Amino acid sequence: MSTAEKTFSKGLEGVIAAQTEMSFINGTEGILEYVGIAIGDLASNSSFEETVFLLWNKRLPTKSELEQFTKDLQSNYSMCDAMKARIKACPVDAEPMHVLRTLVSSMAMDDSTPNENSVEAARDKALKILATTPAVVAGFDRHRRGLDFIEPDTSLSFAANFLYLLNGEKPTDAMVRAFDICMITHADHGLNNSTFTARVIISTLSDMYSAMTGAIGSLRGPLHGGANEGVMRMLNEIPTLDDVEPYIMNKIKNKDRIMGFGHRVYKAKDPRAAELMTLAKQLADHTGNSDLYEKSHAIEQIMEREYAAKGIYPNVDFYSATTYHCIGLKLDLFTPMFALSRIAGWSGHVIEQLGDNRLFRPTTDYVGPHEAPYTPIDER
Ligand code: CMC
Repeated sequence: MSTAEKTFSKGLEGVIAAQTEMSFINGTEGILEYVGIAIGDLASNSSFEETVFLLWNKRLPTKSELEQFTKDLQSNYSMCDAMKARIKACPVDAEPMHVLRTLVSSMAMDDSTPNENSVEAARDKALKILATTPAVVAGFDRHRRGLDFIEPDTSLSFAANFLYLLNGEKPTDAMVRAFDICMITHADHGLNNSTFTARVIISTLSDMYSAMTGAIGSLRGPLHGGANEGVMRMLNEIPTLDDVEPYIMNKIKNKDRIMGFGHRVYKAKDPRAAELMTLAKQLADHTGNSDLYEKSHAIEQIMEREYAAKGIYPNVDFYSATTYHCIGLKLDLFTPMFALSRIAGWSGHVIEQLGDNRLFRPTTDYVGPHEAPYTPIDER
């Protein structure tokens, strides 16, 4: 490609850097599909297990395939002793996302063939990482609370098992269903920053663990998956419904970003936000947190008035904050929840990348000086 043909797009906006058969986004109309199926249909009818099968196989499973896939996940729920020891070695005041990133990286040491990158090996590693990570997140949370680990219940679904591992008691069907919907809606989303990170890393033929580790590091940023924790902090800072308007208008005046709003691709309401809004309302009413939902809804109305013309609407992180809070999760577990689900998407993209790999290696537009003199150190 000649220099004249090269274009610079800050933040790679509008650049097509990969092909995928997993998720399709139409940002103008607010459409998200996994393998052609609308996210709303999946949220209403599917399970997280079925959604992962769909993303990894590009088709819905038969009944027996789903049973087998669920069993394969369940048989990988447990952590090895080395992982338990590593969790116990973590400082109790560590941030869960730092712990998650570190411990997913450490899983490579528990694998006798960590560098195998055949598509079959990558699928096995993806399944193991996805199935075990809930025990790692819940295990660290129990460790920092001074509680013993709980052994996974291999009769439970992915969502139910996680809540059980965290709280030590079987969750209600309503909580499991709510959590399952969160997992479905967060599972994949085109070439978002963390997915791009995973694809970039695997394109060097590194390994699945490195790709997942890098993706977790990307996700925790406040402009990406870390925004859900920012939303909750904002809701906590607003004492009552009457304080919403002055609080938001003050932020707008100061040109602060409102967490949970705006998106590089969506210029309409994120369809995942629409699903999670319904869920957040139901859960908030059910758990005595109606004030959180009302404050969120009031923020959305003000933002619509002030920012709709700029195409800034709620994204997935906005109502997931209230939803996670109502499920009983601590604020610093919100982004790990996002990661637990997105491992499905990241690893699916790694498998796609391995299936048709070419090294990612863009170029820079050098804007510094040329032919500069080298000045000896004593003369500077
Ligand atoms: N609040 C106020 N103004 C905003 C916001 C916001 N949340 N988002 C964008 N803008 C403004 C921004 O100030 C800029 O204004 P101007 O043109 O006057 O300078 C304009 O919109 C374009 O912003 P940008 O940063 O160039 O847009 P982007 O496509 O690079 O940013 C974004 C996308 C998600 C980083 C941004 O909307 C943002 O910072 N949102 C808040 C953080 C957030 O909720 N992140 C979660 C994203 S969705 C889920 C995920 O990926 O995890």
